[in-house]
Amino acid sequence: MEITIEHASPTDAAELLDHLKLVGGETDNLTFGAEGLPFSVEAETEYLAHMESSANNFMLLAKADGHIIGNASLSRLPRRMSHRGELAVAVAREYWGQGVGTRLMKEIIVLAEENAFEAVDLQVRSDNVRAVRLYEKLGFIRLFDYPDYFKINGVKHDVSFMTKKLK
Ligand SMILES: CC(C)(COP(=O)(O)OP(=O)(O)OC[C@H]1O[C@@H](n2cnc3c(N)ncnc32)[C@H](O)[C@@H]1OP(=O)(O)O)[C@@H](O)C(=O)NCCC(=O)NCCS
Repeated sequence: MEITIEHASPTDAAELLDHLKLVGGETDNLTFGAEGLPFSVEAETEYLAHMESSANNFMLLAKADGHIIGNASLSRLPRRMSHRGELAVAVAREYWGQGVGTRLMKEIIVLAEENAFEAVDLQVRSDNVRAVRLYEKLGFIRLFDYPDYFKINGVKHDVSFMTKKLK
């Protein structure tokens, strides 16, 4: 099966929202659960269309046989932080351990470099060993752990703030 990485296009909106619901429900590692993100297909379509001509926001999709199985996003921070970008990545559980997360992260970091980002930041649940290892492998350092940053069904979890300097 061929797994490709490509820029999201407006026609991916509905499937991307479904993918986010899937990955949101598969672990408690994301900032949302099975409900996904509160965007309509129309709003997401518009957002992805806007991204096509943006040097600030990027969305990459991993597809297996044409279907979305992973995504990575890069968003420029505003104003005096605009030399920095925030990253997020999620792969459908069925496809874990096949290098998809690594490919998505490597490609989104290249996009950050090409678009003059000087650093990329991310937050990850401190007990999300798989993700932390992936980020450390790619040169991210753990700045600090923020106690109780997430609260999921009444239970609090520490979150690690990580960064990678690009320039
Ligand atoms: C974290 C995530 C993106 C990794 O995606 P993936 O496609 O499985 O990643 P890869 O196959 O490229 O493996 C990446 C690294 O994870 C680590 N890893 C893989 N399997 C592991 C395991 N069983 N235990 C610990 N670490 C493991 C390894 O360091 C691996 O790199 P290596 O194989 O070169 O050593 C994916 O698990 C995911 O989407 N999880 C749910 C959402 C999430 O946690 N997102 C991140 C939120 S900050």
